[in-house]
Amino acid sequence: VVFPTETVYGLGANALDASAVARIYAAKGRPMWNPVIAHVACVADARALVTTWTDEAERLAMAFWPGPLTLVLPKRAIVPDVATAGLPAIGVRVPHHPVALALLRAANCPIAAPSANRFTQVSPTTAHHALESLGDRVDLVLDGGACDVGIESTVLDLTGDVPAVLRPGMITRAEIAIVLDREVLDLSERIVLADSAATPQHSPGMADRHYAPRADVWLFDRADAAEMTRAMTSHRNRGTAGPVTALLFSAIPPVHTGDRIVRMPTDPSLYARQLYAALHEADAAGAAVIIIERPPPDERWAGVRNRLERSSR
Ligand code: TXA
Ligand code: MG
Repeated sequence: VVFPTETVYGLGANALDASAVARIYAAKGRPMWNPVIAHVACVADARALVTTWTDEAERLAMAFWPGPLTLVLPKRAIVPDVATAGLPAIGVRVPHHPVALALLRAANCPIAAPSANRFTQVSPTTAHHALESLGDRVDLVLDGGACDVGIESTVLDLTGDVPAVLRPGMITRAEIAIVLDREVLDLSERIVLADSAATPQHSPGMADRHYAPRADVWLFDRADAAEMTRAMTSHRNRGTAGPVTALLFSAIPPVHTGDRIVRMPTDPSLYARQLYAALHEADAAGAAVIIIERPPPDERWAGVRNRLERSSR
C-alpha cells in the first residue's frame, strides 16, 4: 500500500512478513542491500522491534516523535533479515501524518516502507507522483494530499558509541545534539559509495546517484547568476536538447522560450516542501537540464543540500 507520511509517500508492507517486504523491493526495483525503515504507531511498538531501547532513544522519541526522525537500533529476531538487508540494526520511526497513523492502527503491525518511487528516482510528495512511478506495481494508493516536510527523515544511528547522522533531514544534527546534550557525528558524507553487498556499508541507502530526476541537474553557487544565465544558453551547445528549468532564489529572465524559472523559497522548510514537486514538474515539462542555485551553507539546509548534491551526480 502506498501511503502518505509527513516527509514523503511510502510503499508499505508488514515489516514482520519477509515475503511482503520482499515484494516492496521487487516493486521498487530496489537492490536487496538497501534496508527499509519500519514505521510504528507509538514508542511501545518501536521498543517491540529492538533489543535495546536506550535512555537517549527515549529522549529523542519524546522530543521528535511523531516526526521525521528515524532511529537505528539493534533489531530483535522477529524482524526478518530482508527488512534490514541483513544488517543487525533496524531503522524505526513514528510518522506524523494522520493517514499513516490510521493505517498503522488498522494494520496492527509495524509497516516497512521505503519512499514510494522506483529505485534512484525522486521521492513522491503527492499521491500522483507515486502513481506515476509505481501505479502499475502496487495494490492501493492512499491519497493524503501533499507532504508537509517534503524530504525524507533524518536517519540517526544509535548503535555506536557516539550518535551519528547517516542521512540529514529537516531535524538537524544541532537539534539532536541539544536534546542529547552531547556531540553527534555527521557520517552522511563519509558513507562508502558502492552498489554491491560486497562492500560493507554503514548506510547502504546513501547510494551515490539518488533522488535523481530524468534531466541533468547542474548546481551553481549563489554568486554565479551570470554563469547560470550562460549555462541556460550553453547547454544547447553541449549536445542536450530541450528546455531548461531553473530553481533559483533570485529572479533572472528566461533565456529561451520554453525555459522555466522557478523562484524557490529562502526558508529551508518551505524549500524542502516544494523541492521534489519542482523536480517532478521539471521532468513532466520535458526539461533536459535543471539548473539549481545552491542554498546557503548553514545547518538548516543540510537535508536539502544533501538531496541536491545527490540528484546532480
Ligand atoms: O522519511 C522517510 O524516511 C521515508 C518515509 C516513507 O518514512 N522513507 C524513506 O525510506 O526515505 P528509504 O528506504 O527511501 O530510505 C531509508 C534510508 C536509507 O538511506 C537506508 O540506507 C537507511 O534509511 N536505513 C534504513 N535502515 C537502516 C539501517 N538498519 N541501518 C542503516 N541505515 C538504514
Ligand atoms: Mg528513497
